[in-house]
Amino acid sequence: MKRVVVLGSTGSIGRSALDVIGRSPSEFRIVGLSAGSNARLLEEQASLFNVDLIGMSAEPSGGIKGRHIVSGRDAAVRIVAEAGPDIVVNGISGAAGFLPSLQAVRQGAVLALANKESLVIGGSFITDEAARSGSRIIPVDSEHSAVFQCLSGESREEIRRIILTASGGPFRTRPKETFGDITPEEALNHPTWSMGSRITIDSATMMNKGLEIIEAFWLFGVDLESIEVAIHPQSIVHSMVEFRDMSVKAQMGIPDMRVPIAYALSWPRRMALSFKPLDLASMTKLEFFPPDGEKFPALKLARSAMEQPRCLPCVMNAADEVAVGGFLGRRIRFNEIMDIVRKTMDKLAGSRVDSPADLMELDTQSRKIAENMVS
Ligand SMILES: NC(=O)c1ccc[n+]([C@@H]2O[C@H](COP(=O)([O-])OP(=O)(O)OC[C@H]3O[C@@H](n4cnc5c(N)ncnc54)[C@H](OP(=O)(O)O)[C@@H]3O)[C@@H](O)[C@H]2O)c1
Repeated sequence: MKRVVVLGSTGSIGRSALDVIGRSPSEFRIVGLSAGSNARLLEEQASLFNVDLIGMSAEPSGGIKGRHIVSGRDAAVRIVAEAGPDIVVNGISGAAGFLPSLQAVRQGAVLALANKESLVIGGSFITDEAARSGSRIIPVDSEHSAVFQCLSGESREEIRRIILTASGGPFRTRPKETFGDITPEEALNHPTWSMGSRITIDSATMMNKGLEIIEAFWLFGVDLESIEVAIHPQSIVHSMVEFRDMSVKAQMGIPDMRVPIAYALSWPRRMALSFKPLDLASMTKLEFFPPDGEKFPALKLARSAMEQPRCLPCVMNAADEVAVGGFLGRRIRFNEIMDIVRKTMDKLAGSRVDSPADLMELDTQSRKIAENMVS
């Protein structure tokens, strides 16, 4: 039986992970759960899965009976360290997921990684530690899970292009001049996926795809220029790989995160699931377009961040987290999100990062600058 820790268990990925694990009780045992502040749901989950070790980054206001509770900013790291699991599912949102991922790979656990920010901000630290400990990183992000599956049995030297698909978000066809009028409600209304608020807004600005280009760079060890993006509004083809013989492999499936989560948990095998299957006959078309870089500058910004891979992706991510919060709180307009990200990157370009501690310091500094702009 595999011993699993689920970080961010109260979020969209975390709840889906528990749903998958609950379908295979003989294969998995949950040995630790962690959340941010949602004590009520965390307690319910701990009771349901009989988990004694739970963590919250916020201080719990009341006691949670019969459980060993770890609290504080480093709660998720301590849960991973204390539980010593075989697999860590990291479904924390934002840069807060980085140190728990680092802990998981240091311990040699399999890291089922949804928290793309771990690789975006600290890809060099995470991959170095994984190489040292022998830890495997299995992507949960549907696009990266698709690429990972396409690469099964293939040689990485034979990759010509990785093509990440993107739904294009809710504003794919909306005129750019009206972006200043976009409301949080409109931006939160994703056409194909149901996700947490930050990633949903990032899908609307396409920053999510920018982060995913960087995530793919660290996961698959190819040049940035070999990673392309195709807009695919139906979200059925989850991504593709083109090989040097011009052959293209695509991975398809229903848009349900439980599928790539199950793959990451049961890799290298496949778990039996019984959801409503893909109905090819009812599909009238599968479309693919090039992304509109003029309308969605996030893609270019993310590529430019990789000119200083230890510094600028961290700044970009932190500024984006703050700006997205500002937009959701109606303090800035939708079209100001990218301005704030770009200006924060300009201010902190060239910052030196030699260690994970430097990275966390840069994250804090970036947030302060971005917060000032939001204010
Ligand atoms: N949702 C998707 O379909 C999807 C798809 C691909 C990739 N991802 C990636 O998966 C990650 C999670 O996304 P999500 O959509 O599941 O987000 P979400 O619904 O907002 O959930 C975030 C989780 O992280 C916890 N959390 C928040 N701040 C924390 C902190 N400082 N320390 C520890 N835990 C904290 C939250 O706890 P509380 O509930 O207590 O606040 C919650 O459990 C993101 O990196 C996202 O990009 C998500």
